[in-house]
Amino acid sequence: MKIVKSHFTLGLIAAAVVSLSACGGGGSSTVAANTNPVPTIAKTSKTFTVMDGLIQNALVCVDSNANGVCDATEIQGHTDLNGQVTLDIPTADLATAKLIAVVTAGLSTDKDTGAIPTSYTLQTPVGKLDVSDPVISPLTNMVQTKIDADHAAGTTTSVADADHYVISQLGLNNMQVSAFDNFVAKSAEGSTEHKKAGERAHVLVVSIQTSITSATGSAVTVAVTGGSAPGGSHAVEIDVEHSLLTQLSDIGKVSDNVEHLACATNSTNVAQDCKTEIENEVHSNHLDSADAGTGRGAGTTPATPATPATPAAPAAPAASATAGKALYVANGCGGCHGTPPSMSKILNGANSPTTISGAIGSVGAMSSFSGKFTAQNLADIAAYLATPKI
Ligand code: HEC
Repeated sequence: MKIVKSHFTLGLIAAAVVSLSACGGGGSSTVAANTNPVPTIAKTSKTFTVMDGLIQNALVCVDSNANGVCDATEIQGHTDLNGQVTLDIPTADLATAKLIAVVTAGLSTDKDTGAIPTSYTLQTPVGKLDVSDPVISPLTNMVQTKIDADHAAGTTTSVADADHYVISQLGLNNMQVSAFDNFVAKSAEGSTEHKKAGERAHVLVVSIQTSITSATGSAVTVAVTGGSAPGGSHAVEIDVEHSLLTQLSDIGKVSDNVEHLACATNSTNVAQDCKTEIENEVHSNHLDSADAGTGRGAGTTPATPATPATPAAPAAPAASATAGKALYVANGCGGCHGTPPSMSKILNGANSPTTISGAIGSVGAMSSFSGKFTAQNLADIAAYLATPKI
């Protein structure tokens, strides 16, 4: 990963002065230079919040050497119960510093969903520290990923453009939401678009976690401190995130889909109440099979394949358009028929389960669905096709 290096010039100059005078004359006459009082470095106290649910005990650090992990020598602290940590950052570095939050399995907890099953790291880009209510979230992390991916491809993308890209790809209104918003606070104030942003952030985290687990075969993979060995788990995570960057619109769809599932009805905390459903949706949309470990950068991973997955169990006994929508999304029908469904005669299946089963039996491209659906599944999909706008 190529990262624009932050410059912590004050510290470097101080170190250079010390070493120059130490090498200078070799005699005691030069020691006097070292007795000058060390100039006080102006610092600014900033409080950062780590989320998607507020994350307690995340290690937050200023990534001075831009290596993507927290080193013991870097300014750092742990978040409190409300996901917050206050760091004293040299004022001169505020504009050039990047922050990292390390969320560690067995140590950090998510206020919404509890114990963290798999470690991961989040970043927020240079230029976003000295703002009011700064956050580090899966959304800020995707903005940094977009900047890095474009940089690797030879393009310089501004933070603002990367922000707009991530938000629109996720299917959110970029006039109402920025990736840098405290979506936990704003959805608590009643903003539905920020509530959606929070759900997307959660689906992103689940996708990152399941991809890391499947790529490394281990749940706890990220080093809390120390350097990142090339090819190590940190490199895997970077690959996973670059891959997810190409699948943001699917993450948006999965989140919308979860919102319509039974678990989300009347739920104030979808992340918690729909834990299993979100995981199932991530699996069935292949968001957990990110092509980790093979190459980096934008476009290295093909879009979600349209291979069928295990259908989600329909909840209702009567034909349910909502369950049908879940099946439509989970099985990738939209890859050929559009989302919402519109293309290639798909609407012929409206209220007609036999047309759908007929297509599965006769259309070669759909033969892989053969035997996948129960009569109930087909009825649900047919009901959805009759009301594709839900
Ligand atoms: C790999 C591409 C692909 C996928 C995935 C796919 N379809 Fe199709 N589907 C087609 C093609 C091609 C046709 C034929 C279009 C035509 O004849 O113009 C078709 C036709 C249909 C029709 C119309 C049949 C008719 O007789 O008019 C329905 C209904 C349908 N598909 C439902 C689905 C459903 C439901 C899913 C998901 C479970 C799905 N398709 C997934 C490619 C696909």
